[in-house]
Amino acid sequence: MTDTVSVPATGASAAPAKPAAKPARPHFSSGPCAKPPGWSPEKLDTEVLGRSHRSKLGKARLQRAIDLTRELLQVPDTHRIGIVPGSDTGAVEMAMWSLLGARPVTLLAWESFGEGWVTDAVKQLKIEPNVLKAPYGEIVDLTQVSPEHDVIFTWNGTTSGVRVPNGDWIADNRAGLTIADATSAVFAMDLPWDKLDVVTFSWQKVLGGEGAHGVLILGPRAVERLESYTPAWPLPKIFRMTKGGKLIEGIFKGETINTPSMLAVEDAIFAMEWAESVGGLNGLIARSTANATALGRIVAARDWLDHLPADPAIRSNTSVCLKLVTDADAEAQGAMVKKMASLLEAEGAAFDIAGYRDAPAGLRIWCGATVDTADVEALGPWLDWAWEQVKPA
Ligand SMILES: Cc1ncc(COP(=O)(O)O)c(C=O)c1O
Repeated sequence: MTDTVSVPATGASAAPAKPAAKPARPHFSSGPCAKPPGWSPEKLDTEVLGRSHRSKLGKARLQRAIDLTRELLQVPDTHRIGIVPGSDTGAVEMAMWSLLGARPVTLLAWESFGEGWVTDAVKQLKIEPNVLKAPYGEIVDLTQVSPEHDVIFTWNGTTSGVRVPNGDWIADNRAGLTIADATSAVFAMDLPWDKLDVVTFSWQKVLGGEGAHGVLILGPRAVERLESYTPAWPLPKIFRMTKGGKLIEGIFKGETINTPSMLAVEDAIFAMEWAESVGGLNGLIARSTANATALGRIVAARDWLDHLPADPAIRSNTSVCLKLVTDADAEAQGAMVKKMASLLEAEGAAFDIAGYRDAPAGLRIWCGATVDTADVEALGPWLDWAWEQVKPA
C-alpha cells in the first residue's frame, strides 16, 4: 500500500449523514489500549515517585503489582512472577535467550509477532527450529507439536485476530517447555497454568496500562532449565536471571534487574485494582466477550464486513480483525481502510482501527476489558458512515 493509491470513486454524491451518537471513548487501539474506565493521571498514587525503587516503599509497590497479578490471573504458587525490562518483547526474548538451545525447538507462527520470534530463533540464535506456519486468520494443526520440543507461540495473535482455543494440545508429560507470548490474551482468556512453563505479557494491552515493562511468569520446569543449562550465546545483563547456577529469586519479589518506571508500575496497580472492582478475571473475561459479541453482531448485520478468521472457535475476544467484503484488489482495499480510519479519527469516532501494517488490509477493533460495550455498539453506524464514503462505486 502506498500513499499515492487513490480510493475508487464512490457512487454517493454527498457525504452521508453522521450518526447521532459517538462512542464516549473512541479508544479502540490494540496497544497501547484504552485506559480503564474512570482513569485519570490524578488518581495514580505518586508517593513512590522520586524515591529509590529499592527503598522499602519502592519494593512494596513492585511487590503489590506482583501480588495483584497473581490474585487476578489466579497464578498458582508453583509459578514465579517477575517485572522485567522491554515490555512484552523484552520478556519473550529474555525467555528465548535464557532457555533455548537445550533441546529441539518448534515455533508456531500465525501472524507478525510469532514470525518475529521465528526470526529471533533462526537469524539471531541460529538454532534451526522446526517452524509451523499458518496464514493470517488461521492457526496451525496443534496436534503436530511434539512434546519433546520446546514450543514458542502467541496465545492470541494480535495482528490476525486468532487465538488458540485451549491448552488441550499441550501434553502433561511433555519433555519440552511451553513458552506462551500471551500479551493480548492474559486478563481476557483463561490460561491453563499447569500447561504453561513460561508466560509473558505487557501492561499496555488488556489492562490499559503502559508499555516499557514486561511481566515474565516462570513455572517450575522453566526454573529447573535455568538452573541446569547455560546457553552457548552471551546474555546481556538485562536478560540474566541466574547467578552461580541459581535463580535470582529477588527478581520475582520486586527486586528488578534495573530501574523500572515506578509511574508505569503505579499505573498498572491502578488498572489491576480497577480489574478487581469489576469482578477480577471472570469480570474481565466477561467484559471482553461482551465487547467481541457486540462487534460480532455489527459484523453479522453488514454484507460488506466479515471476520478475518473464518472459524469462530479461534476468533479472538480482544484483537478482533475484520476484512472488507469487496472485489477490489488488495491495494485498493488498503487505501479504503486507510481512508476509513482517518475519517473516523478526524470525527473522534474511532482511533487507531486500521489493521496492523504487515497484516492483510482490514480493520482491527480492540475489544479488551477496558473498552465499554456501549462504545462498541455506538461504533457500528460510524463504520457504515465511513464505508459509504470509500466503497467502490
Ligand atoms: C502478540 C504480541 N507479541 C508481542 C508484542 C510486542 O509487545 P511490546 O510492544 O509490548 O513489546 C505485541 C504487541 O502488540 C503482540 O501483540
